[in-house]
Amino acid sequence: MSKKKLVFSGVQPTGNLHLGNYLGAMKNFVSLQKEMECIYCVVDLHAITTLQKPEQLRNNVLETVASFLATGLDPNKSIIFNQSSVSGHAELAWILNCVSRIGWLNRMTQFKDKAGPDKETASVGLYIYPNLMAADILLYKATHVPVGADQKQHLELSRDIAQKFNNDFNCKDFFPLPEPLIPKNVSRIMSLRDGTKKMSKSEDSDYSRINLKDSADDINKKIKKAKSDSDPIPDNLKSLEKKPEALNLLNIYSEISKMSLENVLKEMSGKEYSFLKSKLTEILTSEIIPVGKQIKKLLEDRPHLENVLKKGREKANIRAEENLKIIREKVGLI
Ligand code: TYM
Repeated sequence: MSKKKLVFSGVQPTGNLHLGNYLGAMKNFVSLQKEMECIYCVVDLHAITTLQKPEQLRNNVLETVASFLATGLDPNKSIIFNQSSVSGHAELAWILNCVSRIGWLNRMTQFKDKAGPDKETASVGLYIYPNLMAADILLYKATHVPVGADQKQHLELSRDIAQKFNNDFNCKDFFPLPEPLIPKNVSRIMSLRDGTKKMSKSEDSDYSRINLKDSADDINKKIKKAKSDSDPIPDNLKSLEKKPEALNLLNIYSEISKMSLENVLKEMSGKEYSFLKSKLTEILTSEIIPVGKQIKKLLEDRPHLENVLKKGREKANIRAEENLKIIREKVGLI
């Protein structure tokens, strides 16, 4: 089976994209657009699975587009649009709700984390969210999906749904089984306050994350306050196993400086974490500040951002409709 490669990925417009989104997903988006056809979606329908303020949601959608562009996505190379503007996402999600199984959704750990102890009060949308994610990908018959490690289970579900659709409707190979593209060392950037939790927009303390719009002063303060370790930096990876905060800082340094973790340890072993922190602040500042500045500049030109979305939506819609026509036929919808 030789299928044309097509990349799809999505980011929720919940404001304040952070270093985890940037290193775990968005940097990968940019390098992939050089080699493959890519579709990148601001997933506003996913965002409303928890209550959003309408005006803020609209602003967050534009801010996410600005962040895409500021990190280097080129709307002439990649299709950039917001999910709700292509109604095929919602239509295919409904069809896939009827293919996906309750038992499969019951295994999704992210629902358990997000819904908290009282699941009865979570929205139905939050529960069936992974089916919508499968629809996003399969609507375009995407073959590759760049994501961070937290999305791996959802990707596996998308593959199961694709496979079941192909079996149920007797159309072997109709939907490709999408391959996750998960970066090796930065698939899970951890909170700066607690190395056992992933860096996330929902953690209360802003000191837990580096935001793409942080100032140099914010970055400096946050890295200074970040948890590390009282022992000096070790010379081997094994000693870092029980020190997740220290490992996280070293990992971030290794990724941005493009040095292997082994070489970073060679350079820094025996030194105090304050040495790593000052180096890390330096490279983070030179990597993140220009991105933040560009986001702010782009946000001053809303018509431009709206135009990027409009052009993207037109292109995405053509592809979505082409595929949906066949999907409707396969299912027996007139
Ligand atoms: P979202 O909006 O939570 O995150 C966007 C991307 O950032 C990655 N990410 C991280 N990577 C490393 N370390 C972290 N701490 C970290 N935090 C976030 C996520 O893995 C993701 O790649 N359900 C998805 C959005 C989505 C989607 C899709 C993705 C909707 N439809 C279809 C791919 C394909 C989400 O909530 O990502």
